[in-house]
Amino acid sequence: MTERGSSGGLTAGSARLCILPARADVADAVAGLLADAIRAAPIAVLGLATGATMVPVYRQLVAILRTQRIDASRVTTFNLDEYVGLDRQHPQSYHTYMARHLFLPGGFSPGRTFVPDGVAADLTAACDAYERAIRAVGGIDLQVLGLGPNGHIGFNEPGAAWDSRTHVVDLSSETRRVNARFFRKSGAPVPHQAVTMGLGTIMEARRIAVVVLGHAKADILARVITSGPSLHYPATALAGHPCVTWYMDEAAAGRLPPFLRK
Ligand code: F6R
Repeated sequence: MTERGSSGGLTAGSARLCILPARADVADAVAGLLADAIRAAPIAVLGLATGATMVPVYRQLVAILRTQRIDASRVTTFNLDEYVGLDRQHPQSYHTYMARHLFLPGGFSPGRTFVPDGVAADLTAACDAYERAIRAVGGIDLQVLGLGPNGHIGFNEPGAAWDSRTHVVDLSSETRRVNARFFRKSGAPVPHQAVTMGLGTIMEARRIAVVVLGHAKADILARVITSGPSLHYPATALAGHPCVTWYMDEAAAGRLPPFLRK
């Protein structure tokens, strides 16, 4: 495992890069990080992401929880986002994704797993309530993030305000195009909007782990890591966070400058 701080660009602060040979190694490392957090603090508060990147991470986390008999029933979780207009039973909702990949097989308690409500009658009030719920449990101990192809984190699209809180966003055409792969089977249209934690919400997590896998993310990852803070790439907001680790496979790291890959 290569683990290092770096100089320049995004990682000039205390962020670390953890470059591992293959996606299975990254899944092992991030699942281990989450399992350790639960083992160390059974009432830990976790911030969770969805998407293709997180599937192998959650599969591995469930395996660790089961084989090591780690009790996740007192953990509280907050998901980053949910599509507007998809109820929790919709096959492509993030409620469904989380139940299938982590909450049910991992033994999490339904009363302690929070995912934004995409069908609330008053979405703004629901967003405010989500923020209050995070505050009520003392904030997020460990936040896991994926990286969107346009540099988004959560569904904070390019141009998002860095002090934003949980809010409704219009999804960019690129995000809708890329995420269409998840909707193809059901034939359901890709929603135009989502509820997402804001960049300000994410930045308040005490620790952050960003997970990036595959060649398709190599360009955007290199851009985010090497460019200075930029509104065009929401993930560059993480440069201002004191405790961020970027977990990636060699394929995703492929476009990083050589001095960061040594
Ligand atoms: C998902 C989320 C998004 C994804 C990102 C990467 O909850 O917040 O930011 O992490 O779009 O998605 P995948 O992993 O499908 O490439």
